[in-house]
Amino acid sequence: MTITASSTSATTQTSLLPAGQLQGRTVVIFGGTSGIGLSAAVQAKAAGAEVIVIGSDRARAQRAAAENGLDGWRAADVTRSDTIHEALANIPHVDHLVLLAGSFVVGKVMEAELGHLRRAFDERIWASVHAIRALGDRLAPDGSVTFISGSLADRPNAHGTAVLAAASAAMEALARGLALELAPRRVNTLSPGPIETPLLSKALGEGRDAAVTAMKQALPLHRLGTAEEAGAAAVFLMTNGWMNGATLNVDGGARLI
Ligand SMILES: NC(=O)c1ccc[n+]([C@@H]2O[C@H](COP(=O)([O-])OP(=O)(O)OC[C@H]3O[C@@H](n4cnc5c(N)ncnc54)[C@H](OP(=O)(O)O)[C@@H]3O)[C@@H](O)[C@H]2O)c1
Repeated sequence: MTITASSTSATTQTSLLPAGQLQGRTVVIFGGTSGIGLSAAVQAKAAGAEVIVIGSDRARAQRAAAENGLDGWRAADVTRSDTIHEALANIPHVDHLVLLAGSFVVGKVMEAELGHLRRAFDERIWASVHAIRALGDRLAPDGSVTFISGSLADRPNAHGTAVLAAASAAMEALARGLALELAPRRVNTLSPGPIETPLLSKALGEGRDAAVTAMKQALPLHRLGTAEEAGAAAVFLMTNGWMNGATLNVDGGARLI
């Protein structure tokens, strides 16, 4: 097992994959500069891939790549197609494209600003469409695309997450459609439950500790997931050649309660 430390995420980054599995492959991860994406990047690198990570914050992207020995970084805002095109412009070939960038877009439909709610779809559906179009034939025919959804897609709540849940469920539908349209490339979706990352802390704000305690009590495994567990699931979707059009739940059973 390869272990790589990083100070750019909430948890220590650990690889759960055998070395060499991604030798000679290029992996590009939008949202690879923190949390689940950074853990996926570290694990793909440990498995032999050349890894390029992309985030919106330039300094964080540069630091994530430097501290984890990754092969490159780019800054791009996934809600802007021009910056997505720029970020991908000089990458000659991509074997595995991972699209995990996104924020916790919360707001009730009757109250929130529409521009804010629209971000849920812009960061996920439209960012994915722009990135895939930008790469075109540079996306390897035997490669893969991995999207992100979340257990909200199966289990919505009344706390202003309806649009985010809809955008997450839409990612799963987009993956099934593109698994046919982009074939023989494989297209899958990773659906995490609550994972201990910087996003979770941002989403819960000052009430984080109380909310986490309540979540742990309610969850079947009485803990949150780790970035390593979710990152390993992303790399599994890249590397298992028979996964296609699938949604992989990595949620400790959160969607069942
Ligand atoms: N953690 C959970 O419990 C959980 C559960 C279900 C689904 N998810 C989803 O999983 C994905 C990763 O979440 P995480 O928990 O790993 O969060 P995280 O640690 O906050 O990482 C988010 C990543 O996305 C990037 N990003 C965010 N907005 C961006 C934008 N507009 N343009 C470019 N990059 C952007 C961030 O880079 P910058 O910081 O530089 O912007 C960072 O690399 C998110 O889409 C999230 O919705 C998370």
